[in-house]
Amino acid sequence: MDPIRDQNIGRSPHIPVLLRPLLAAVAPVRGLWLDGTFGAGGYTKGLLEAGADCVIGVDRDPLALELAAPWAGAYGDKLRLVAGNFSDMDRHAGELLDGVVLDLGVSSMQIDQAERGFSFQKDGPLDMRMSQSGESAADIVNTATEQRLADILYHFGEERASRRIAHAIVEQRAEPIVTTLRLAEIVAKCLPRPKPGQSHPATRSFQALRIAVNEEFSQLVQGLLAAERALKPGGLLAVVTFHSLEDRVVKRFFQQAAGEEPNANRYAPVKENTTARFDLVTRKAIGPDDLELEENTRARSAKLRVARRTAAPAKDIDGAALHAPDLPKASNKKGHR
Ligand SMILES: C[S@@+](CC[C@H](N)C(=O)[O-])C[C@H]1O[C@@H](n2cnc3c(N)ncnc32)[C@H](O)[C@@H]1O
Repeated sequence: MDPIRDQNIGRSPHIPVLLRPLLAAVAPVRGLWLDGTFGAGGYTKGLLEAGADCVIGVDRDPLALELAAPWAGAYGDKLRLVAGNFSDMDRHAGELLDGVVLDLGVSSMQIDQAERGFSFQKDGPLDMRMSQSGESAADIVNTATEQRLADILYHFGEERASRRIAHAIVEQRAEPIVTTLRLAEIVAKCLPRPKPGQSHPATRSFQALRIAVNEEFSQLVQGLLAAERALKPGGLLAVVTFHSLEDRVVKRFFQQAAGEEPNANRYAPVKENTTARFDLVTRKAIGPDDLELEENTRARSAKLRVARRTAAPAKDIDGAALHAPDLPKASNKKGHR
């Protein structure tokens, strides 16, 4: 292990977000659970301490699992660690589950390590790959067409200046853009200077690139469907999201699966209520309370939703039915200029 990297990790421990309300919403915790976003293991430890017989901890970041090695052994066969995607959780579990938790996005450890390239606060390589394999953010920034870049920024970051930023990136990349600070500077020059209290102008662009690199929306949709297949009747699914694009997908999934989707047009014929595959445990998303906000400002945009699996057969739906953000077909193709 690299001592500097370990010091960095030690300085910014990951504080689990919304863990107290999550454990309250799924109590009593019993049986076999799967934590699809193991991270620093905060949820896994919380579930084990609350009474889970066994937790399967899944993470696509090999470093997250490596860092758990010193303490994971203390739980013996109550904790199984698996390197992989939560979209394959039914395969990873191999048996039906009593509960699944997903705490979406990146961990503090990933953000705070400059060499992972998630942050524009410190200079680092433009990487952003949670799994540390596949196409990096630098690959996308330096090879995607201007149109594809603009689409990524617009659809995954809701960036209104997407075209202007994409144009500036393509103009500037004659000398390849390989560091986070250089990209942040290019983006910042395209946007008005932020007023005090406003976020850094590159926030939306970095979110968008991270989502593209890690295919976060297809992972989310496939993960929700995998959880539906993996849970026993009565099993619980708890999902914590960090931005409105993610929360909308989870909200829609739960509403559709619970047969509660509101009719967009009140004059339209009432839709047939298909057999509910989930019952809603939380009718409204739960956010952090004042105490949690005081302890952890990163919790401010977090939202928790929980639902309980029924005995109805699992259904296969596609991301479009959940309005999951996606790139227009043409811009999914990679290419130069
Ligand atoms: C917000 S952190 C989870 C923190 C964790 N709940 C804790 O308390 O320590 C998200 C973690 O999920 C992992 N992750 C994100 N998407 C994933 C996916 N599709 N499959 C598996 N792991 C994923 C990331 O690598 C990261 O370690």
